[in-house]
Amino acid sequence: MELKYICPRGTRDVVYPETEIWQKIFSTAKEIFNLYNYKEILTPIFETTELFIKGTGEDTDIVTKEMYTFPDKKGRSLTLRPEGTPGVTRAFLEQKMYVESPLVKLWYAGPMFRYERKQAGRQRQFAQIGVEAFGSSDPRIDVESIEILFLLYEKLGLKDVFLGINSIGCENCRPEYKNNLKEFLSSVKSELCVDCQTRFERNPLRVLDCKNISCQKFLGNIPNIQNFICEDCKTHFDKVRHYLELVDIKYEINNRLVRGLDYYTKTVFETFSRSSALGSQNSLCGGGRYDNLVSVYGGDKTPAFGWAFGVERLAMVLAAQKDWHKVPPEYFIITLGAQAQEAGFKLLSQLRKNNITAEIDYIHGAGGLKKQLKYADKLGCINVIIIGEDEINKGQFVLKNMVTGEQKFHPFNFDEMGNNHFPFL
Ligand code: HAM
Repeated sequence: MELKYICPRGTRDVVYPETEIWQKIFSTAKEIFNLYNYKEILTPIFETTELFIKGTGEDTDIVTKEMYTFPDKKGRSLTLRPEGTPGVTRAFLEQKMYVESPLVKLWYAGPMFRYERKQAGRQRQFAQIGVEAFGSSDPRIDVESIEILFLLYEKLGLKDVFLGINSIGCENCRPEYKNNLKEFLSSVKSELCVDCQTRFERNPLRVLDCKNISCQKFLGNIPNIQNFICEDCKTHFDKVRHYLELVDIKYEINNRLVRGLDYYTKTVFETFSRSSALGSQNSLCGGGRYDNLVSVYGGDKTPAFGWAFGVERLAMVLAAQKDWHKVPPEYFIITLGAQAQEAGFKLLSQLRKNNITAEIDYIHGAGGLKKQLKYADKLGCINVIIIGEDEINKGQFVLKNMVTGEQKFHPFNFDEMGNNHFPFL
């Protein structure tokens, strides 16, 4: 069959059994968010374009190249969210969440959209799960937030993941670093890629993000940002490292890690996977402190910290680590004849109401035993209940184990309400 419709480039269907991994990621994350007192927030999938230009940053790749921006019918410029932080920060202000509590801890999950070149682990629509904490400049909140992520990794059994951290200073100390970096890069400017030549002029820090090998080769000896950050940023970073060590989280300091979004201050981090499943897209999660974004959006200066990870990337690594088998229903019911169909349907309902997964053959329902057994086998069901007219007349049914072939007779046991009391209920 020639397919008439396929999903748009950079998007994909997530189908069973991969959805089992997604469910595991979501349910485990929710449990952990609850433990750390993070509350869920849902924000719109599109926002005003201005929100991302001002927040994510007008010189970032996201804003300059990757946004799905469109006018609505009234000509207002809207953008499909490329990331969650601007929308959540807007909501924090718009919903006046700061009135409720001096510290507001939020989590979110949902699709994000970036017009990027498609490759393994990089899509145009992808899902993120993220957290944002507003109100505290305490370095322990940085570490608590990172700890959530590592507890999630641990509970999911994720292997070969490592944490890279850096401090990119604040509005007081970063300008001097930028000048120094610019000076350093000036001798090689003409050899940088076209994008980096613009970045060099507008925000030289962005050059450090460039994925082009031709640019990366000049970055080996860049000035170390740690030598430029102010006393306040240095103390903060030292404390973050101290508390990471206190809670046994291993890290590597990477002074070239600056993140591709403009709002960060002080701590930035990414977690990377060594799994071959991801190839070059080995960043699983990114985040950091952003103490100025709330005030950029017109609020009072409010320190904040957060991160987000891509669900697809995490699922890819987990899938490569372990075979996610299909999980068949515990029981499969085969019915032979009209009376048996009724008894079987009633039993099916009872099993499910007792939290026992079960399935019945709706396809070959009126067909023979052979076809139904074949179907049960295809689904991978091990326990098959066979109900025939003969069995009903004798007040019993057959329980067959598809692996051993063993068959046992069990009596039907109706109560005065007409419910069956099966031995395994
Ligand atoms: P980000 O580094 O742009 O940060 O994205 C976070 C994660 O989203 C990445 O590490 C990656 O796993 C996933 N991701 C990004 N782009 C794609 C893509 N095209 N395809 C698949 N996965 C992708 C942010 O978005 C910040 N909002 C994080 C944050 C929250 N910072 C503070 N709070």
